Amino acid sequence: MARVRTSYRCGGCGAGTPRWAGRCHACGDWNTLVEDVGTRRENAGRPTPIAEVDAGRWRARPTGVGELDRVLAGGVVPGSVTLLGGEPGIGKSTLLLQALSSLAAGGARVLLVCGEESTPQVRLRAERLGALCDGLWLVADTELPSIVASVEELAPDHLAVDSIQALADPDVDSTPGSVAQVRACGHRLVRLAKERAMATVLVGHVTKDGSLAGPRVLEHEVDTVLSFEGERHHALRLLRALKHRFGATDGLGLFEMTDTGLAGVDDPSALFLVDRRAGVAGSIVAPVMDGSRPLVVELQALVAPLPEKTALNPRRSAQGVEPGRLALLLAVLDRRAGLRLANADVYASVVGGVRVTEPAADLALALALASAHTGVPLPQDLVACGEVGLAGELRQVNHAGRRLAEAARLGFRSGIVPASGPERIDGLGLLRVRTLHEAVTRLGLSPSSA
Ligand code: TYD
Ligand code: MG
Repeated sequence: MARVRTSYRCGGCGAGTPRWAGRCHACGDWNTLVEDVGTRRENAGRPTPIAEVDAGRWRARPTGVGELDRVLAGGVVPGSVTLLGGEPGIGKSTLLLQALSSLAAGGARVLLVCGEESTPQVRLRAERLGALCDGLWLVADTELPSIVASVEELAPDHLAVDSIQALADPDVDSTPGSVAQVRACGHRLVRLAKERAMATVLVGHVTKDGSLAGPRVLEHEVDTVLSFEGERHHALRLLRALKHRFGATDGLGLFEMTDTGLAGVDDPSALFLVDRRAGVAGSIVAPVMDGSRPLVVELQALVAPLPEKTALNPRRSAQGVEPGRLALLLAVLDRRAGLRLANADVYASVVGGVRVTEPAADLALALALASAHTGVPLPQDLVACGEVGLAGELRQVNHAGRRLAEAARLGFRSGIVPASGPERIDGLGLLRVRTLHEAVTRLGLSPSSA
C-alpha cells in the first residue's frame, strides 16, 4: 500500500522540514512546526529516471504450472487480480487447486475460499491430485465481510475465491450470482488485492452462449481475464488470456485432463493430428501461430449441395474459424476461382477445439472448401500457409519460416505458399503460387479439372 509521507511545516513562514523541532530553522520562531500530512504518496512520488524506478514488487512470479505461466507471460504479479472463467465442469477448480498448491509448495501463504464445495471435499481432491501442502489454507465461506476478515487475519500472499458467483455482500439486496452481487463482491476483492499487494484469482462460471455471464461484468476491473475452454467429451483443455495487463495475450496453454488432474501438453501438434484420416476430401493442415509457438492443426470443410429450390438460405457453420472469414473465402472462391458454393450448406471447423483467427490460415481453409466441393482429397503430406486477398491474390504471412519448419518436423513433405513467401524450407517441397485460382488449379481442384 502507498505510504503517506509525513513532514512538518512552520505555521509562520511555511518552511518544511522532515523532522520535528522546537524552533523553525528558517524564521527562528518557536513552537510553530505542525505535522503536514502531504498529498504526495510514494507511488505518485517524485519524477524518477526510468532505470531507477523500483519494479521488484511488480515482477511476475511463476506459479510452477508451466502452461499457466506461459499464458500469464511468466507468472502472477503481486496485487494483481485474475478472473478465471469457463464453463461449469471444464476444470477451473482443478487448475486452481494445482496452481495454488504449487505456489504454497514454493513457500507462499495461500488462502482458498471455497464457496461451492466443503473443505473436506477440497482436501480429498487435493490428495488425489498430490496437491496437499502446508502453506495452503482453506475456508468455506460465502459472506464477503467474513472473507475479508479471514484475509486480514491470515494475511496471505495469494487469495483465490471459487467462485465469485457463490459470494454475497449483505449490504446488497440481491441473490448470489446476480450482476449486482458479482459486481459488489468483485469490486471489494479488487480493492483488497490492491491494498494488500495480494495476488487474487476469482473463478467465474461463464458459458459460451452467454446464459451464464455474470462474471463478465468484472472484466474491465480485473488485470487479467483467463478463459479455460475445451470440449467436455475430450480430454484437451485450452487456456488463453483474453486480457492481460502484464504481458502479451497471444499465448495458449494446453492441458490434458487425466485421472490425476491436469497435465501440460508438450507436443500439441502431434496430439492434434493423431486422429487424422487419410484420403478424405475437405481436410488440410495449416501451421498457425500461438503466440511465439507454431502449432500445426487440421482444418476440415464439408459441402452439402442443396436442391435449387431450397437454396435461398444455405447454412454456414464455422467452428474455430471466424464466420466472417469463411464468408469472405466463399465469395473469393466463387468470384476469383469459379467454384460455385452458393447453393450448398457449408461447414468448416478446426479440429481439437482450437480457434484460428489468423488470416494466415486463409489458404488452407479455402483449399479445404475447394476440396470438399469437388470431392478431390488433398495430398496427405501437404500443408498450406498464406493469406487470401479480395482480388484472389495470395499474400505472405509472418513467421512463415518457423511455421513451415514445424510442419516439416512433424513429417509433412510439401507446402503450398504464396510466391512472395519463403523460397526454401529444409525437408519441405514448396509449391509457390500467386493466386487462389492458381492454387486450386495446380492441386486439381478447379471445376474444369474436377
Ligand atoms: P472441476 O475442476 O470441478 O470443474 P469446474 O471447477 O470448472 O466446474 O472439474 C470437473 C471435471 O473434471 C469433473 O467432471 C471431473 C474431471 N476431473 C478429472 O477428470 N480428473 C481429475 O483429477 C479431477 C480433479 C477432475
Ligand atoms: Mg469448480
